[in-house]
Amino acid sequence: MCGITSYLGYRDAYPIVINGLQRLEYRGYDSAGIVLVDDEYNVNLYKTKGKVSDLKEIAEKNNTSGCMGLGHTRWATHGIPNNENSHPHTSNSGNLVIVHNGIIENYDTIKKELLTRGYTFKSETDTEVLVNLIEEVKKQNNCKLGKAVQIALTNVVGAYAIAIFDVTKKDEIIVARLGSPIAIGIGEDNKEFFVASDASPFIEYTKDAVYLDDEELAIIKLGRDIRIRKINDDSVVETNVQELKLNLEQIEKGGYEHFMLKEIHEQPKAILDTYRGRLLADKGIIKMGSVDNNIAKFLNANRIIIVACGTSWHAGLVAEYLFEDLARIPVEVEYASEFRYRNPVINKNDIVIAISQSGETADTLAAIKLAKSKGAFVFGVCNVVGSSIARETHSGAYTHAGPEIGVASTKAFTTQITILTLIALKLGNLKGELSNSVFHHYLQELNLIPAKVENLLKINSEIENIAAIYKDAPNCLYLGRGYNFPVALEGALKLKEISYIHAEGYPAAEMKHGPIALIDEFMPVVVIATKKGHYDKVVSNIQEIKSRNGKIIAIVTKGDITVKEIADHIIEIPETEEAFSPLLTTIPLQLLSYHIAVMRGCNVDQPRNLAKSVTVE
Ligand code: AGP
Repeated sequence: MCGITSYLGYRDAYPIVINGLQRLEYRGYDSAGIVLVDDEYNVNLYKTKGKVSDLKEIAEKNNTSGCMGLGHTRWATHGIPNNENSHPHTSNSGNLVIVHNGIIENYDTIKKELLTRGYTFKSETDTEVLVNLIEEVKKQNNCKLGKAVQIALTNVVGAYAIAIFDVTKKDEIIVARLGSPIAIGIGEDNKEFFVASDASPFIEYTKDAVYLDDEELAIIKLGRDIRIRKINDDSVVETNVQELKLNLEQIEKGGYEHFMLKEIHEQPKAILDTYRGRLLADKGIIKMGSVDNNIAKFLNANRIIIVACGTSWHAGLVAEYLFEDLARIPVEVEYASEFRYRNPVINKNDIVIAISQSGETADTLAAIKLAKSKGAFVFGVCNVVGSSIARETHSGAYTHAGPEIGVASTKAFTTQITILTLIALKLGNLKGELSNSVFHHYLQELNLIPAKVENLLKINSEIENIAAIYKDAPNCLYLGRGYNFPVALEGALKLKEISYIHAEGYPAAEMKHGPIALIDEFMPVVVIATKKGHYDKVVSNIQEIKSRNGKIIAIVTKGDITVKEIADHIIEIPETEEAFSPLLTTIPLQLLSYHIAVMRGCNVDQPRNLAKSVTVE
């Protein structure tokens, strides 16, 4: 979490850094700060609790000149969000300034040692300890900043992406990473450089970028090539410049009020982009290089273990139904945070699939490392190209959903399900579980999903009306069965994370084992009751809610008559195969949470306490 960005070159740093921070705000928004060094070596440091817009207001009343700048948007770990704890942090001499994304776990021990040497601290942060450690190392070894950073980092336990400079030199920035991402943009002839947690802050300036790997440190000096070294053994790393595919349009709101709404509406295209070139419905084949190249492993797998967090974990649960139902492969779905500490039994013939939108989630990354250490083949399903998880896994498939900026995952979820559906169908067919004709039928049907989602989105205003009725409800239940049980969980997560209404998802039949006690005339219950999914059973569950006066919002298949008579509201989805229904039933639930959150005046794209990529445990 936390977003860091920096500029060094010939342009005014302020607009680049401040706009960059706004683009990185999805990573945390507890506080923000910026430091600028002008031509006369004047250092202007502004920081504040709150959002980048608050910082902007403060900075723009003051001096914002200078061609060298560092910025930070924070998701608080050590110390409450206040001005003192905001980054950038300065060393005791005032010469070194740092921004940091991550956690220094042994900061307390280092701090005690520095206190005995006379250092003082203004904040409660681990980062202020780190910048002073670097200063002390530099002093003791009488070395250059790059070397001091390298030595200091070998004494640090934890995770970091840092950018640091010496305000008395205006041509050099040092950056380093372990566990948190960092991208470097390179301007023409090395006349300017950009640093950021992802490439979004600099896409309009350069398409040439370098992504640091873990344990790497880069010395960025104006007018010369970047020098990268391994932190631990000092070996030289070849600079691998990549061409960015991202464009500005993709990271702007494009006329929508919120990124979340834009991303909900992007789903027809995102799903299509995910299966483009992979699902060849007319030819009756699914082509996926990363699966094809490892096909023996997939076909001989005794078990698939899925590791993920949050919404990605819900996509994993949908995959459990897909793999078991279509390909008859046993599946276990694990919270990465539990899996990594549980000493799990992993066998040689198990495949681990790690699902992550950001590709940076710390728990998922640790689960992958654990699975690899036990000899498992690990396959990644990520959205962010070049992310840590994409690089750490043996093989994998990108979802190609495009940047997801709203903190609440929407298109990431449906595109993850799309990839997992493709794999399950392919394996099902190759294993002989799906005959060619059934397989071809599934391919044709999957090919229709983007158009069906497009149609479904037209009911936006109907959902808005339902949202207006329930926007003040203190609680909400979500029920579903089979493929749509994970969708119920996801619907509840969406509502709680952006509207702060307490919501729970349950398998519909579990209701009678406890949650039914909550039902009264004030309790809205969202029930997914699609025609092919244990329909009669779910109808009975709906009756049980009705007889306790609960308010029923039912998601039904178009043309449904039975539920229409019982439910207070119905939302119709187009007919499809039950295995693909999560791709449709999810959409109204996303819209419902979105509208409720907007009506409650919540910050939909940046809900409180959350961050888009969770790079801490
Ligand atoms: C969902 O809306 C969340 N913001 C969150 O649960 C998210 O899915 C989770 O943190 C996992 O992130 P990842 O997919 O980037 O690994």
